[in-house]
Amino acid sequence: MSFTLRSGCKINLLLNVLGRREDGFHELETLMQPVPLFDELNFEQAGKGFHFTCSDASLPTDGGNLVVRAAELFFAAAGITEGASVHLEKRIPAEAGLGGGSGNAATTLLGLNKMFEEPLPLERLHELAGELGSDVPFFLDGRPALALGRGEQVEHRDPFPALDGAWLFLARPGFGISTPWAYRSLADHPEALNGRPGRAKALADTLTLGGLSDAADGFYNSLEAPALRKFPILAIYQEFLTDNGAQVALMSGSGSTTFAITSSKSAAETLGERFRSRFGATVWVRTLALQ
Ligand code: C5P
Repeated sequence: MSFTLRSGCKINLLLNVLGRREDGFHELETLMQPVPLFDELNFEQAGKGFHFTCSDASLPTDGGNLVVRAAELFFAAAGITEGASVHLEKRIPAEAGLGGGSGNAATTLLGLNKMFEEPLPLERLHELAGELGSDVPFFLDGRPALALGRGEQVEHRDPFPALDGAWLFLARPGFGISTPWAYRSLADHPEALNGRPGRAKALADTLTLGGLSDAADGFYNSLEAPALRKFPILAIYQEFLTDNGAQVALMSGSGSTTFAITSSKSAAETLGERFRSRFGATVWVRTLALQ
């Protein structure tokens, strides 16, 4: 048996940190929007053990890769001793705040569960996903979501009407940002560390009942406080993007990707051309329909 599954990514329309928890994680509320940009995972049944290969030689292929950790958790939980091979064709950049690795982990759980004829119910996959990473449960389902707790408590939402027909521009500079570093550094930014709850629901409501321009001020990311101070180029990107037609420009997750939203394809394409000619070819960029 052999099949291929797509593995997507996300942007955080809002990421509001509410405080540091006893367990070292941070309590937050976030609005997560799926982005139609995909890696591919090829699954093949194999005699024994788990075999993993990846098109990107810079990524680990041992337990340092979430695909391998997801497979180990799956096989242990399902009590399966037969083997599988997985190949990952990587297109989504790493350390980008797009959740590409978390998406790969969720897709591995779904793919192996399909291969072995669904030994685990969806609730069990959710538990395993939460063990793998705070973002992973979101990727078991392709819908937008409001997520709480450390990000693993996912409430799905219908696609937001304000984003109908909107376009997305993504720019990931030639450096990544470490997620643990970004959260740890909030200690130097008490206002960003202790956000006021309710902003995620307020933005979700405006995106449901109003237009994109009504919602523009509600987009927010607490992790920008440390990230934009350490990497001022990210603030320069945002200023350039809003000066050149973006309705919204914000860092996604813990960075380093900046996303911009425009109300039309032509505005996004113009933005992309201007951005490339201003900041050059070392930045990874994509222009795509948002939903
Ligand atoms: O859950 P995940 O593996 O993605 O988290 C990576 C790191 O980011 C954690 O080890 C923690 O340092 C930080 N983090 C956090 N609070 C969250 C999510 C992540 O402090 N809600």
